[in-house]
Amino acid sequence: MNTRRRTLLKVIVLGDSGVGKTSLMNQYVHKKFTQQYKATIGADFVTKEIQIDERLVTLQIWDTAGQERFQSLGVAFYRGADCCILVYDVNVLRSFDTLDNWHDEFLKQASPSDPGTFPFILVGNKVDVDGGNSRVVSEKKAKEWCASRGNLPYFETSAKEDYNVDSAFLQIAKMALEKN
Ligand code: GTP
Ligand code: MG
Repeated sequence: MNTRRRTLLKVIVLGDSGVGKTSLMNQYVHKKFTQQYKATIGADFVTKEIQIDERLVTLQIWDTAGQERFQSLGVAFYRGADCCILVYDVNVLRSFDTLDNWHDEFLKQASPSDPGTFPFILVGNKVDVDGGNSRVVSEKKAKEWCASRGNLPYFETSAKEDYNVDSAFLQIAKMALEKN
């Protein structure tokens, strides 16, 4: 492995409280899932090393608080972000409706030099719930939103069942790496 080309990528995970941001990160990094909900306070990061082609990449994944009262630390940690994962819960309409807000607020606070082409992906989580019978946001609707935001890649995931989680993180890492 060529360690001379090690790259650090800062990944920000955003979305409403309870959509599963922490769970996705725990599944991806630690291969663990818990039913118990514990709100994230402020923001914290974990790192994971992956290899993409010939490059050794360290993902610094920032798990943020969805609850407004826990966002008091501010959004200073958005700065220097290389990419952003927007997460909603396919069973909760409100978490989809707030995506515009998360997206716009991120760009405003992070103020990247390339807002038009900044790497984002959308993740629709909890597709396992009730065998998919309780979902309220269709894949079509989600993809339309992605198209309206400059053709963002879309992934449907289950942090609980470890469905599509690796693929989503790999995609965002590749997109960020391309710009790096
Ligand atoms: P905040 O920290 O408040 O912003 O919430 P969060 O987005 O980090 O949500 P969290 O990962 O804590 O998950 C909230 C709840 O949903 C927990 O009880 C999880 O166990 C559950 N959960 C997360 N992902 C899934 C999933 O894919 N399927 C199911 N069935 N439950 C999930
Ligand atoms: Mg959390």
